[in-house]
Amino acid sequence: MPSKFKCVRCGREYEPGSVFRCECGGLLEVVHEPIKWDRHIVDSRLCPMGAPYSSGVWRYKELIHPGLPAELIVTRPEGNTNVYHRSAVSEFVGVERLTMKHEGENPTGSFKDRGMTVAVSEALRQGAKAVACASTGNTSASMAAYAAQADLKGIVFIPEGEIAYGKLSQALAYGSKVIQVPGSFDDAMRVVQEASKELGLYLLNSINPWRIEGQKTIIFELLHQRGWEPPDWIIVPAGNLGNTSAFGKALADLVELGWIQKVPRIASIQAEGAAPFYKMWKGGGEVLESLHPETVATAIKIGNPVSWEKAIRVIRETEGVVEVVSDAEIMEAKAVVDGSGVGCEPASAASVAGARKLVAAGVIKPDDDVVCVLTGNLLKDPDATVGYHTGKLKGIQARRPNAPTRLDTTSMSASLRRLLRE
Ligand code: F0G
Repeated sequence: MPSKFKCVRCGREYEPGSVFRCECGGLLEVVHEPIKWDRHIVDSRLCPMGAPYSSGVWRYKELIHPGLPAELIVTRPEGNTNVYHRSAVSEFVGVERLTMKHEGENPTGSFKDRGMTVAVSEALRQGAKAVACASTGNTSASMAAYAAQADLKGIVFIPEGEIAYGKLSQALAYGSKVIQVPGSFDDAMRVVQEASKELGLYLLNSINPWRIEGQKTIIFELLHQRGWEPPDWIIVPAGNLGNTSAFGKALADLVELGWIQKVPRIASIQAEGAAPFYKMWKGGGEVLESLHPETVATAIKIGNPVSWEKAIRVIRETEGVVEVVSDAEIMEAKAVVDGSGVGCEPASAASVAGARKLVAAGVIKPDDDVVCVLTGNLLKDPDATVGYHTGKLKGIQARRPNAPTRLDTTSMSASLRRLLRE
């Protein structure tokens, strides 16, 4: 195996198995044998139309799972997501060179597919029969889809009544066993870790280092699309902090290969009511203190993020920042992104809301080159969208509502003319 697990705290190394924490309690990460790799290989893989190398994950196989036999790869294929510039969004944020990389264009509608294809393929390599995760929705949707493709039994633990319907419907439809846990995502996370240890389920949360390897490809693909020209900033919504961790690791890989010379600064954006990472970073603390999470953006409603220890390293190493945005700011940013024809789910809009706040604070300059990552598809959470536009979203005064109106059929043409004038 050309890859090992290494503790981020004490540096101890392990053969990759199903234990994801070091004896000292530290998080593990994947380290590969150093390679000298020619960029022409990844360039040439942009051409094949078939799996696995048409996948925006497996195109970079040597950087994510070099030792995996290709016949074990379970892929839809994922990635190949687009980058958009919209002047309405640029104006809203206050930065002309602003683009959005839309990870909602992945097969199950979120970035989770990038990590899941790698970790589910690894589950097959290990001969796992059943896989499990806790989720605020997208991980469970993705895991259910990949488990079904790999003929593995899938078991998802979700916080009861807390996940958006688009996501719940996916987990049910793809045939995973859905177990509702009373409490928050953090309670579900605790339960799944105990359950997987006790019942021998292969755990597919982002504490599993192979998930992080897959999510690195958001950055590989983004920079590939930009001809390996890094932006000044990459802005990402932050919940369990898997993505923040993956982004930093990907950038370190590219620097080591010599494919990029400059490291973009990473900004992780949390929801105001679910911001333990922000509080730790802002207060200069060394240990994260968990809290009870509350936010309209259910995907990032997390009070005890698993990957904080990796993520804080990334923020420090990239001279990054952590910021918070309110639910109202999130929903307004979402209305702007949606109204530009691109569209995303609430948590994703945290990146755009965060960019706007950082510009207003003078941290991001108006002439900086900025990429916001949109993590999930607009259709994931229809209740939040309709609730916002109809003024029924609790605690939020919609600044850009677009409520449906009723046709008066008794004087139809007059009614229509009036409605269209509004
Ligand atoms: N955006 C979306 C749409 C998400 O679903 C998540 C996480 C995040 C952002 C935050 O990313 O955890 O890497 O910091 N969703 C997980 C889930 C927790 O269970 O679907 P992160």
